[in-house]
Amino acid sequence: MASVPKHGTIAVTGAAGFVGGWVVRRLLDKGYRVRACVRQIDDDARTGFLKAMPGHASGRLTLHAADLDRPGSYDAIFAGCDGVAHISHVSTYDDLDYVSRVCDHLATSIERSGSVKRVVVTSSVAAVMSEADVRELVRRPVLDEDRFPDETNPKRSPERGQGYSMGKVIAERAFAQAAERSAGRWDAITCCPGDNVGPIQSAHQKDMGPWQHLVELMLLGECRQNPMGAYRPWMPVDVRDDADSHIGLLESDQVRNGERYIAWSTETRKVEDICADIDRLLPELGHDTPPVIDPYPEHVRAREAELRAIWAGCELRNERIRRVTGVRFRPWDESLRDCVESLLSIAKVRPKLRAGFSHRN
Ligand SMILES: NC(=O)c1ccc[n+]([C@@H]2O[C@H](COP(=O)([O-])OP(=O)(O)OC[C@H]3O[C@@H](n4cnc5c(N)ncnc54)[C@H](OP(=O)(O)O)[C@@H]3O)[C@@H](O)[C@H]2O)c1
Repeated sequence: MASVPKHGTIAVTGAAGFVGGWVVRRLLDKGYRVRACVRQIDDDARTGFLKAMPGHASGRLTLHAADLDRPGSYDAIFAGCDGVAHISHVSTYDDLDYVSRVCDHLATSIERSGSVKRVVVTSSVAAVMSEADVRELVRRPVLDEDRFPDETNPKRSPERGQGYSMGKVIAERAFAQAAERSAGRWDAITCCPGDNVGPIQSAHQKDMGPWQHLVELMLLGECRQNPMGAYRPWMPVDVRDDADSHIGLLESDQVRNGERYIAWSTETRKVEDICADIDRLLPELGHDTPPVIDPYPEHVRAREAELRAIWAGCELRNERIRRVTGVRFRPWDESLRDCVESLLSIAKVRPKLRAGFSHRN
């Protein structure tokens, strides 16, 4: 299958988001023309950073209003594009019929374009490892592209918090099947990112993520155990490396329709260490490292040692994406440092400081 031509035209959904914003910037850096899809072009708090990119001044970057909830709203945007980076969230992951419908009409817009050769669909490591019964990770601890959560578990349902993971699996398959029906006109490759950490580009992104938002909360004096899994360590990817992974998958001629690739560094970091890392990496700041809040109910706390051992036994893999994209994942320290500094400088977060230190903004 043909990859997108160098310097071609790429549409990016979710372009005002944390990941999408970096995909736009890196595509421009690499010489592409970019159609950034946002819901409200005039909402400068969300789109001002895109309009400030040099490519916007020249017209190489254009902004387009589209909403996944309005079928057909991507038709005109995709027409003439070589590729699509479909990064945006959907409005809800709790209604799986809705998720399927959204995939169908986006795939229809791709089909109608007559020009798109490849779509990279953003899934998540939740579609690899989010288990209704965490003990399934003991039975299958290797976290690679061949792994899906146990879909036979009757507890796997949106009502029990699995909607996001289920919705992502549905989207992966829906796009691969739609591309299959196109008889080779276009293909769909999935990117499953880990926990995105790194610099925000716009103040509004501090509340999204959730990982950069959790770092913001740490700066403000509130450090919480992982809301995405009891005692699960963070499994990071730098948002810039995630963006490069998406672009690498658009460009690669080694990938095939329906394949999925995990984008993470394979480092893991315990929550209690992350909070302390801020002071270790930026001692000049004087961050008042807060204690870790454990929000879990008593029956979960009783299993703390078991749950920590399960996560410690997982084996994170990324050799496939490194092979087909050449991406080198940067170390955690760089991601956290740049995340913190962007929260301070771009979002004007005022961290809780120890006595003797003062704010610089
Ligand atoms: N952040 C992570 O650590 C992480 C990890 C794994 C996977 N992912 C996946 O990566 C993707 C991007 O995540 P992110 O952290 O960058 O999210 P984000 O910052 O919240 O951005 C998501 C974007 O989705 C757009 N969106 C939401 N509903 C939409 C709809 N109905 N129609 C059109 N656009 C809609 C929003 O657009 P507007 O700004 O125009 O409203 C928003 O900018 C998501 O698919 C997410 O599941 C993220």
